[in-house]
Amino acid sequence: MKRIAVLTSGGDGPGLNPCIRAVVRRGLRAGVEVFGVRWGYAGLIDNDMTSLDSRDVSGILGKGGTFLGTARCPEFLDINVRRTAIRHLNQRGIEGLIVIGGNGSLAGAQALHEMGFPTLGVPGSIDNDIDGTDMAVGVDTTLNTILDAIDRIKDTASSHQRAFLVEVMGRNCGYLALQSGLAGGAELILVPEREGPALEDIAKTVLNAYLRGKSHCIIVIAEGWKPGTKAVQEYLLDRREELGFDVRVTVLGHVQRGGRPSVFDRTLGTRMGAKAVEALLEGASGQMVALRGGELELFPLTEAVKQLKPLDSVLLELADLMD
Ligand code: F6P
Repeated sequence: MKRIAVLTSGGDGPGLNPCIRAVVRRGLRAGVEVFGVRWGYAGLIDNDMTSLDSRDVSGILGKGGTFLGTARCPEFLDINVRRTAIRHLNQRGIEGLIVIGGNGSLAGAQALHEMGFPTLGVPGSIDNDIDGTDMAVGVDTTLNTILDAIDRIKDTASSHQRAFLVEVMGRNCGYLALQSGLAGGAELILVPEREGPALEDIAKTVLNAYLRGKSHCIIVIAEGWKPGTKAVQEYLLDRREELGFDVRVTVLGHVQRGGRPSVFDRTLGTRMGAKAVEALLEGASGQMVALRGGELELFPLTEAVKQLKPLDSVLLELADLMD
């Protein structure tokens, strides 16, 4: 291969820039020209891509977001749209593509591979819901951002004797809630992978925390948990007098996605980006670079996008014991 391209797709996250930088620099070292595609798959469709040299990726290592831009691109599900994308790549003599993104983006990468275009995936998502890899790029920094917020909220909760509901991202996956709740000492963690508890039992947890002499009660709720944060809020507020604690809600929202990547995410992004280039040049396609037990391996994209990564039930049980 003489020319390859890289794009970031789906939600942004810390560590995407180190990963792009690694793709560019590893590619250049291997004697390959590397094109950066703007705005994810939309840039393939619009033919919006440019050749990058080493200096183009200077200074991005410590920056959050993605300097190439990203987008959610449902149009890419259409095979005719993908044909246009492949035509644009072929017209420029680009022979391989690296896609950094989450489940939907990796499904797009698999679709390109099935159409005969050599494509490699790198897991980039704050949710850590991509099966086959222990960690995706962006997860670690996001967890630390959430943890910082929980620590701060706990200061206020303890100072005022309050219960706080803290809603975190993760789409349909409870990983961020579980890990941050465990590390943040939450009294209760609610995740979509586990049904319940009933609202009545959540209220009991709050009351018990009060009766046991705690100065706060922190409940971390994954955004995908049903019936949802609002239902808990309304139920608890209706019973405020009986609970001991007053109740407040913080929805962390998009503050979780930005920010300077941690050491872990810079390292993981760099390792995965370089590995993706090496694998592509060795002829791999339809694979995702995965972190498995500390080592980087290739994992089939078909498997990676088949189901959400299961939650660690042992860790969930451990968190239950720590209230
Ligand atoms: O997949 C990352 C994520 O931040 C999810 O946790 C969240 O549900 C979703 O993206 C939000 O997407 P958007 O930024 O498009 O609203």
